[in-house]
Amino acid sequence: MAVLQRYLSIISLYYLWLIPLGQVVAAVHEILEYVNPLIGSTNGGNVFAGASLPYGMAKAVADVDGQNTGGFSTDGSRVIGFSALHDSGTGGNPSLGNFPLFPQYCPDNVIDNCKFPRDARAVHYVNDSVVARPGHFALSLENGIHAEMTTSEHAALFRFNFPPITGSDGSPLSPFVLLDLTDLWESRQNASISVDDSSGRIRANGTFLPSFGAGTYKSYFCADFGGASVRDSGIWVNNRGGTEPKDLFVTRGFNQFYLQAGGFVRFHRPQDGIVNVRVGVSFISTDRACENAEKEIPGPEYDFNGLTDRAEKAWSEKLSPISVKSGGASKDLLSSFWSGIYRTMLDPQDLTDENPLWKSDEPYFDSFYW
Ligand SMILES: *[C@@H]1O[C@H](CO)[C@@H](O)[C@H](O)[C@H]1NC(C)=O
Ligand SMILES: *[C@@H]1O[C@H](CO)[C@@H](O)[C@H](O)[C@H]1NC(C)=O
Ligand SMILES: *[C@@H]1O[C@H](CO)[C@@H](O)[C@H](O)[C@H]1NC(C)=O
Repeated sequence: MAVLQRYLSIISLYYLWLIPLGQVVAAVHEILEYVNPLIGSTNGGNVFAGASLPYGMAKAVADVDGQNTGGFSTDGSRVIGFSALHDSGTGGNPSLGNFPLFPQYCPDNVIDNCKFPRDARAVHYVNDSVVARPGHFALSLENGIHAEMTTSEHAALFRFNFPPITGSDGSPLSPFVLLDLTDLWESRQNASISVDDSSGRIRANGTFLPSFGAGTYKSYFCADFGGASVRDSGIWVNNRGGTEPKDLFVTRGFNQFYLQAGGFVRFHRPQDGIVNVRVGVSFISTDRACENAEKEIPGPEYDFNGLTDRAEKAWSEKLSPISVKSGGASKDLLSSFWSGIYRTMLDPQDLTDENPLWKSDEPYFDSFYW
């Protein structure tokens, strides 16, 4: 019945009774061409412009140091990380953005030449490189690294493409990805990280402040890497990094002192330059974050294109009950319309089984401003 209804609505949408089925499918995908996630991404629009499933808990985007309540902005500010939890449309304090990753090359492959703190590592994105589509976000950094991302329900897949660059001694530079124990608002209280030297897996947890409301919440993180072999790994604090130890606990302590810290993994550059990072997130436990990722984005070869297709199909299906007899409406008006409908399904997030305070079989949808 549902299938029939959907088919009928597609037909009524495009008057396609004379057109073969292949083109019906193409027509549904055409609706996605009207969705522009960048509308409202500057001048206080505060929208989330990145990759998400409908009501997805995982929301992946580049985080900037400008207008970043939703992570990214087209205000020309600098990228400070790539993270997988966001809100959309909130003003006030920046929401979430927990556990950002940051890809870079470290001059001459010297770890202490890497840029660790947020301000030191920040780099502009190339304005016309930004691609934002339902379920897919990409941009190029001015340091030459290209980043793409897509998501499942509780996990994100980041694809970083490192161009071939050699150091002053002629040897190729090693792709380097750090993880910062922070969030967009730098609200982190306590946090822990441990890095597995053989696989590169990073497990982390932290206590943060909500952008709206009182109290604290705990967020859990699990990252795995694909496509490149691990050269070494470790921990960083302020502007220094080292391969020992592999674990760290940071706390604000009684004087509220905030220390920038996290972990890193360095790779032998693969032929194609691509390092995939699969990030699982959870509000329950680190084990759950890892399970979410393993279940939704199986490895060891992560299927980026397959996951992007899956996200596009999910959006096409959610938009398919709506039909428009466009008449003489302009492309801009149609774009505003479909982008607005798309936005109604970014928040709240499907947090079923992910709220430590909601032990129930019932579905649970929420976000800080809902
Ligand atoms: C990128 O866009 C921003 C915001 O519109 C602008 O301020 C900046 O000058 C642009 N940068 C370049 C290199 O064009
Ligand atoms: C942070 O950790 C300390 C020491 O383990 C503990 O006393 C404190 O309650 C923790 N704070 C938060 C906000 O979790
Ligand atoms: C966070 O991780 C550390 C290290 O694995 C662990 O000791 C601690 O119990 C974890 N905290 C929470 C709240 O899960």
